[in-house]
Amino acid sequence: MSRSCLAVILAAGESTRMKSSMSKVLHPVAGLPMIAHVMKTIATSGISDVALVVGRDMDKVAKAGSVGGVNVTPFLQAERLGTGHAVLAAREAIARGYDDVLVAYGDVPLITAEPLMAARAALAQGHDVAVIGFHTANPTGYGRLLVKDGELVAIREERDANEAERAVTWCNSGLMAINGRKALDLLTRIGNANAKGEYYLTDIVEIARALGGRTVAVDAPEEQLTGCNNRAELAVLERLWQERRRHELMVSGVSMIAPETVFLSHDTEIGPDALIEPNVVFGPGVTVEGGAIIHAFSHLEGAHVATGATVGPFARLRPGANLATGSKVGNFCEVKKAEIGEGAKVNHLTYIGDAFIGAHANIGAGTITCNYDGVNKHVTRIGEGAFIGSNSALVAPVSVGDGAFVASGSVITEDVPSDALALGRARQEIKPERAKAIRARNQAIKASRSAKS
Ligand code: UD1
Ligand code: CA
Repeated sequence: MSRSCLAVILAAGESTRMKSSMSKVLHPVAGLPMIAHVMKTIATSGISDVALVVGRDMDKVAKAGSVGGVNVTPFLQAERLGTGHAVLAAREAIARGYDDVLVAYGDVPLITAEPLMAARAALAQGHDVAVIGFHTANPTGYGRLLVKDGELVAIREERDANEAERAVTWCNSGLMAINGRKALDLLTRIGNANAKGEYYLTDIVEIARALGGRTVAVDAPEEQLTGCNNRAELAVLERLWQERRRHELMVSGVSMIAPETVFLSHDTEIGPDALIEPNVVFGPGVTVEGGAIIHAFSHLEGAHVATGATVGPFARLRPGANLATGSKVGNFCEVKKAEIGEGAKVNHLTYIGDAFIGAHANIGAGTITCNYDGVNKHVTRIGEGAFIGSNSALVAPVSVGDGAFVASGSVITEDVPSDALALGRARQEIKPERAKAIRARNQAIKASRSAKS
């Protein structure tokens, strides 16, 4: 399809019911603002020109909506006089002359490319308006699609509908494609003589037909057309998004034992044959290669986990954690901005931050890289095959050479050469029989206390 297209995204709603200091469309689903989800779908539909109709937070909304592949021009709809009025806020863009004008909503973020393409395909077949509809068990509040002999003849808003019309369960999603050559003429003919006194975009159907044009409705899954008016509905969108993405990943070869407990971000990538155990949370920027295992109750953000690596249970990977092939980060470990080399092990109760851990190094339980001196962050380097004894503190900047050993309980403040043994702890002393003397003294104290009371 080589027809030109302008997408007009309506995002000037007042968001009153969100009870929020920011525009509704800036609220995130899977960590990405709703408006960016819509824009990503617009981009994957092959549409690059977007007019964004905004009522508040104009700069922030335009910025959040500027995803790769789309040219966003924001338009302010200062007064909120209805959806027909909102589309006309982008009059200047529509007047540039496109084959198609596609209207979508900023607060309907789960829409995919297919219904948008289907609506545009209907224009290519000669329709002047192609509305995206959905079937629902609960049509209350939606405009109803009135169909006669297979043709869409009108959209009736709930308030203006009679009883028979209200019984219709095929609803207007609000998204539609309009013949771009006729759009301005059709839109400017919309009036506001209705129950709400608003300019209803939906009137465009009857207007187009009165002028001899053809109109049609295309069907799409209800889930994709779910909107958002309050935080409870935002949580529903989040659930629907999560369910969809988990399903995609599982179908692509990722194992999840209890998928309903795994939370993904908009950009989480997981390769085939990876296993994600229950209760794992992915923040933004995580890639997990195939064959890796993320054990239960782990939290990952801005991290890369290579094939054959294992994480958790109860591990936290923070931004810049980069786990090489076959490496292991075990329970109650936190890793931040650190390379964990091939086959290296960080198994228990450890903090590794601003560090390079060489291949096959072994980091003992309770090891801490002391990376922060209160002002600056410093780097710790641990060589290949090095062995860090349990409960060691590595005071950065510091390095431990290849194959070196650090004795348990050491505080390492100076570089350790390759293959050396470093001891940074007090030497053990033995006082023979001393325990007996202490015990006798303690018993005498207890006896004198109970005699007094
Ligand atoms: C609209 C449709 C209805 C449809 C429903 C789907 C009309 C007249 N009715 O009703 O048939 O079933 O959506 O959710 O179109 N907006 C603006 N500026 C405005 C008015 C609205 O930007 O002046 C935006 C809103 O932010 C929202 C969208 O347009 O994203 C829909 O507006 P809303 O007031 O929710 O329309 P409804 O009355 O629900
Ligand atoms: Ca609505």
